[in-house]
This record gives sequence, C-alpha cells and structure tokens, in this order.
Amino acid sequence: MTSTSPDPAGVPLLRAVGLDYTYPAGPVALRGVNLDIATGRRRALLGANGSGKSTLLLALNASILADAGCIEFQGEAIGTSRRERNLHRRRVGLVLQDPDDQLFSASVFEDVSFGPLNLGLDDASARQRVEEVLDQLALTDLADRPAHLLSFGQRKRVAIAGVAAMRPDVMALDEPFAGLDPMARREVVDTLARLEASGTTIVLTTHDLELAYAWADDVTLLNDGEVLADGSPDAVLGDRTVCERARLDPPPIIGLLEAAVGAGWLTAAQASEVRTVDQLRQVIETRSSGGSGSNMEPDSGGALRDALHER
Ligand SMILES: Nc1ncnc2c1ncn2[C@@H]1O[C@H](COP(=O)(O)OP(=O)(O)O)[C@@H](O)[C@H]1O
Ligand SMILES: [Mg+2]
Repeated sequence: MTSTSPDPAGVPLLRAVGLDYTYPAGPVALRGVNLDIATGRRRALLGANGSGKSTLLLALNASILADAGCIEFQGEAIGTSRRERNLHRRRVGLVLQDPDDQLFSASVFEDVSFGPLNLGLDDASARQRVEEVLDQLALTDLADRPAHLLSFGQRKRVAIAGVAAMRPDVMALDEPFAGLDPMARREVVDTLARLEASGTTIVLTTHDLELAYAWADDVTLLNDGEVLADGSPDAVLGDRTVCERARLDPPPIIGLLEAAVGAGWLTAAQASEVRTVDQLRQVIETRSSGGSGSNMEPDSGGALRDALHER
C-alpha cells in the first residue's frame, strides 16, 4: 500500500514552509505550519472544527497569501504575483467543501467545460477534454443534466470533475465525504482512485477518522492552527495523548486492533497493516477457522475497501 515516492530526495511535490496566517480582523488560523506532500501519496488533514484545515488548503493552492512562510512546488517557492498564483492554481486544484460554491452552469457538461475554456483551449479541444474527464470519472450519463438538479453526492463529483478538467498535479479537496451517505461516499472514494490512477496526487480534509485511517498514507493532525502530529495513520491516530489534545476521538478500529494485539491474535506489525474493520474481521475469521491469522491480503468483500486499497 505504501509506495516509494518518485520525488527527488528532499524535494516533495508540494510543500508548506512555516506558514502563518491570520484572517483580516479575524483569528489566527495557521501557526508555523510545515507540510510535505509527496507525489502519489494520499494525505489527509485532520483536526477539530476551526483547527485550520480549510485555511491550509486555501494556502496550498495560493488562494490566500500567507503572512509568513511560503508554498513550494517541486522545490520552487511560489511568488506573490497574480500571474504566479494563477499558474500555481492550475497545478494545485482546489475542490471546495460545498459544490454549490463551485457549480453555476446550466448543464454538467457546461460546468466542467468552464475550466478548460478558461485555460484558453479552443472549443474542440475543450470538448474533448471534458468528454475525457466525464468518461474517466464515470459521469458521462449525467453530461446533459442541469447540475442544480443532481443529488448532493453527484454535485460533489461534478465539482471534482470541473477541477480535474484542468489536469492539476495535485488535487486538494475540502471535506469531500461530508454530508454523503455510504454509497455516495464510496463513489467519491472511487472517483479519487480514478484520478490517482491518472497521476493526480490527492490531499484532503475530513472529519471521518475511520475513512482517513483506511484511506490515507500520511495524516496531519491540526490543532488551533498548529501541526500537532504528522505521520502514518496508525502512528498519529493511535496516539491517545495527541488525539485528546486535538479534541478528536480515535476511530473504533484503533481500540479493536489494540485488543487484538493484546489477545495475541496479531503482532503489532500485523496490526499496523490492518486498515478497516472488515479486514480485522477477516483476520479473526481466518484464525477461528484454524488459519494462521497472518494472511492479511484484503482480497474479498466490500466495495469501499476495494476502492480504498486497489490502486
Ligand atoms: N473567512 C474567514 N474569516 C475570518 N475567520 C475565518 C474565516 N474562515 C475561517 N476562519 C477562522 O479561522 C480559523 C480556522 O478555520 P478553518 O480553516 O475554516 O478551520 P477548519 O477547516 O479546520 O474547520 C477558525 O478560527 C475560523 O473561525
Ligand atoms: Mg473546514
């Protein structure tokens, strides 16, 4: 699951260096934030309400300018000029939390066309680009539907397609799973996997710690604008002290894995490979049917797990 990054040593694809940000006449939202996003690695930003997750995404795509610190793309600091920030926003696309802040046109096709046309593509090239992205994200059937008449989950996926049509290297998504039922959440997870398959690196914020635990390679825990912890999901979410400080309840899988290790069902190393309750159930079933319990391949069962792990 964990792959070696193709980035040159010490040069992540996208990096935040010492970011401070205070909203005009508002609170301090970021305090000395450092963050590395490596090519092809799934990064989830976690933290309680108001901890600075959305602000950090805005800074990563240069929609806001930090008061101190900078954003680097492939080792180069992004300048503050409008031209440089616009260029950066093509490489780091941002999908807003509320799709209705992003969608505006009559049809899905027109909505997704907006970005490519704005990039200066001619009509035929833009059309081709839109057809490709709708096909890639399994949205072709919705192409002629008015965006405002789609379900919330469908509108989320159309908003993602609109950003994907710009072919960014990094896609930053603010709470892409919020407000979705389990089926719609699976479809968004699957949409992200399709983008990853075409080489897009994903960074997202989420309140769903269970999903973050299953999905992410790397997690960053924010608290009051500061990075409290950064590392693998099991290292960060398995640290009770850190979670308490961040006012977050670790997902139930953490306690179940601790119990499984305590009961001698799994070694700590094996437990660190288990990402979902389904996988743990599979291990327990293997053991109770006389197996060794060490066969950890997530090879059958739920579509969510498949979408999370097949890439
Ligand atoms: N547009 C804004 N104007 C003023 N303050 C804001 C604005 N957006 C967010 N904040 C404040 O900045 C802090 C960080 O917010 P935010 O980045 O939205 O956190 P999160 O996404 O983790 O909930 C909070 O104190 C929040 O109230
Ligand atoms: Mg937010």
